[in-house]
Amino acid sequence: MTNNTADDRKRAAALKALDFIHDGMIVGLGTGSTAAHFVKALGAKVKAGLRITGVATSAAAETLAIEAGIPLAELDAVPHVDITIDGADEADRSFRLIKGGGAAHLREKIVANTSRRMIAIMDDTKLVESLGRFPLPLEILPFAARTTMRHAADAAAAAGCAGNFVRLRGGDAHPAISDNGNLIADLDCGTIPDPEGLATALSAIPGLVEHGLFIGLCHGLIVGRPEGAEVIEPPAHGAE
Ligand code: A5P
Repeated sequence: MTNNTADDRKRAAALKALDFIHDGMIVGLGTGSTAAHFVKALGAKVKAGLRITGVATSAAAETLAIEAGIPLAELDAVPHVDITIDGADEADRSFRLIKGGGAAHLREKIVANTSRRMIAIMDDTKLVESLGRFPLPLEILPFAARTTMRHAADAAAAAGCAGNFVRLRGGDAHPAISDNGNLIADLDCGTIPDPEGLATALSAIPGLVEHGLFIGLCHGLIVGRPEGAEVIEPPAHGAE
């Protein structure tokens, strides 16, 4: 079977991720259309007898998981998360991600940071040579939001990004609001030559609650392609 559409390729990646889920695991449940395929497929496995506990990364993921019949726990109520399966807006082969297209990157990052393993699932258009084509989502406090956005633009310029235009998602009339009651802005970087440097600079801005660069948090990619799903993992120790 050929995965003709982007959604077919998202589903192929999501279904492949089921191979990484085993009985007894605590599983972080990502947000977005690719993760939704995974949550639904995982729900079918639970109905067939798989015993896992889910931890949702957003209100939307929680609703979907409940509909799918997946037992849930709050992150604070579990000792650790075994694995998180989540989507991404862009990924490179160093397992660096841009996330937050669905405004959920703050909670997604909190869950990923507590996970022993995180696998990002995506269609093949999201695997890039260099991050930055997708505007970088920023969750910012409503207080002095324009000032925070200006500092973010300055940080992008200082980090050598090709662009540094920041806009409020939804505009002034209908601003996007995150699950946490904050605003979402998008930083148009064009290309990000130094993702680590930009991440460090953005993290240092007061009022910028969280940016969508995931550095050192992701351990593998599953990329849906027309002919199937490709698993990309770091070389095993000793195999380099
Ligand atoms: C949610 O905030 C995001 O991080 C999503 O994981 C990301 O936008 C991918 O979404 P899709 O799977 O819908 O492309």
